[in-house]
Amino acid sequence: MASQLALLFVRQLKVPVILTDIDQERIDKGVGYVHAEIDKLQGKKRLSPDAANRLKALVSGSLDKAAFARTDWVIEAVFENFDVKKKVFAELEEFVSPETILATNTSSLSITRMAADLKHPERVVGFHFFNPVAVLPLLEIVRGDKTDDVTLATAFATAKSLKKSAVLIADKPGFVFNRLLTRALGEVMNAIDEGTPFDVADNAISELGMPMSPLTLLSLVGPAVALHTGETMAEYYPERFHDSPGLQAMVANKKSAVWTYGADGAKTVDPEIADLWPQGDSPSTSEQVLDRTRRAFAEEIDIMLQEGVVAAAQDIDLCLILGGGFGFWNGGIVPYLDRTGTSEAVTGHRFLDKGVASV
Ligand code: 3HC
Repeated sequence: MASQLALLFVRQLKVPVILTDIDQERIDKGVGYVHAEIDKLQGKKRLSPDAANRLKALVSGSLDKAAFARTDWVIEAVFENFDVKKKVFAELEEFVSPETILATNTSSLSITRMAADLKHPERVVGFHFFNPVAVLPLLEIVRGDKTDDVTLATAFATAKSLKKSAVLIADKPGFVFNRLLTRALGEVMNAIDEGTPFDVADNAISELGMPMSPLTLLSLVGPAVALHTGETMAEYYPERFHDSPGLQAMVANKKSAVWTYGADGAKTVDPEIADLWPQGDSPSTSEQVLDRTRRAFAEEIDIMLQEGVVAAAQDIDLCLILGGGFGFWNGGIVPYLDRTGTSEAVTGHRFLDKGVASV
């Protein structure tokens, strides 16, 4: 993720970018990735040889945090653990100026808590990207309790310079995209835990319009990140977010994908996954999986709007469409839930007035 961010920043802002990591080998790998991607862009004739050389010269790596002394902006994308992230920011504060923005690409952790023990918590802001970073236009910008206006304004200006579309989100677990994705993925994985065949569960929600099936997306996000986000959500909202024993088994066994693909492109469940994923004997039908996932979306969106996670229902659609290409031809998930009667059945009301974003 950090390498993808480095590529974006250098390409769009054309400023010096320094990568750091826990050892030189990882740093070299990161810088090597950025250089190779720039070479690919040159190969596609999207960059001239001179421009490619200039960009490559702007990207360097350093094991020593003193290299960040004169930076204006630092973004961390380290392991999703409060202690690790807090330690990284505390170390950086020893070197950077009090005005340097400290941005975090955390998937779900509280910005307020991450900033709490710093000398200057007012310069910490959530700046959450979506994978693949080069393709997906969303940036969730998250304001912590102490984030000041200068930091927030700088974050929005930077997002614009990076050619991303930013949405302001309250500092609530999982923000928008990951909270809803985790809820939906949870319904699909729990259906498998209960005994639903993998293909039935994974294909059941295709009419919601996600460009990738849930289990394919799981591989893109990474099972460890998905499990961690799920655990964070379950800590705050145990009544609605439940760990999946199958996902836990995948992570424990370092498995990254459920599906394997034959030479003809046909997909089958990796036999090792089929063995290690514990399944009960209460399978759901495809209709039941779709129904429970739709209901989960409606319930969660309603709670998010009550909590003030975003200003309006339309922001939810903006996040899902720009963060993961979610059913844009439906106008997003919210009009879909209204149109299918799910919103009213679950919450007693529509999210949008009749006629708004209808087909
Ligand atoms: N990295 C960089 N570029 C990529 C890429 C990748 N992994 N995958 C595809 N691309 C580029 C291709 O090079 C191509 O670029 P070009 O037009 O300049 O040549 C362009 O994307 C389109 O490629 P394809 O035609 O092969 O791809 P598709 O049209 O099938 O789209 C997709 C691929 C963009 C990945 C699409 O399937 C998608 O949007 N999937 C949903 C992904 C999603 O939901 N992401 C969010 C995950 S949650 C998250 O990241 C938050 C974190 O906190 C966990």
